[in-house]
Amino acid sequence: MISSQKFWDKMAPRYARSKIRDEAGYQKKLAKTQEYFRPDWRVLEFGCGTGTTALIHAPHVAHILATDVSGNMIEIARGKAQAAGIENVRFERGTLEELPLEPESFDAVLGLNILHLLEDVDGTMERVHGLLKPGGIFVSSTAVMADVPWYWRMLIPVAQLVGLAPYLAKLSREDLVMKMTHVGFTIDHEWKQGAMAVFLVVRKAG
Ligand SMILES: C[S@@+](CC[C@H](N)C(=O)[O-])C[C@H]1O[C@@H](n2cnc3c(N)ncnc32)[C@H](O)[C@@H]1O
Repeated sequence: MISSQKFWDKMAPRYARSKIRDEAGYQKKLAKTQEYFRPDWRVLEFGCGTGTTALIHAPHVAHILATDVSGNMIEIARGKAQAAGIENVRFERGTLEELPLEPESFDAVLGLNILHLLEDVDGTMERVHGLLKPGGIFVSSTAVMADVPWYWRMLIPVAQLVGLAPYLAKLSREDLVMKMTHVGFTIDHEWKQGAMAVFLVVRKAG
């Protein structure tokens, strides 16, 4: 399997052109997230892709640090921010493990369409929990591959072998909730987006 960075660098131009599959669902998640935001909030988004969501949320908070493992995704995102004249989003290349981030420095962390792509989801939960201020929220949207029909799951290793799919964790909704509560989060909001994805807003004790 090719490395995650190489895979996503190659995917970046196509990802930038791709349409959102469930526009109504996307809008619902944006609106729910913005219900939580406050104008003075500092937000971290990891796995931000080409920055679409961070740029939409930008007017609702003080600052967003949006990060991604792929330099090509970040380059496209920076171009979009510049074209839109948005100055309160900083795009940085790097993973959560690589980036030197201050503990307890964010009011919200966003991890959208990313947790199922990570090999160490438990480690990521610990890291996210540590980066949030007391009372802060973690907003995630995750493909729950364990809930996907078996015939789709059988195709994944083949697609990975030929470089058409990245690493994919076979998480269920229950796995995710367990991993989040294990590090100390409590569930604030949950929405099952169709059969294959779950949107969760969880809170750190404050
Ligand atoms: C499916 S895309 C989602 C992008 C965006 N969050 C969205 O919802 O459109 C997954 C993104 O995660 C990034 N990614 C994959 N593994 C990563 C990691 N370990 N750390 C940070 N970003 C990662 C990829 O480069 C890609 O941009």
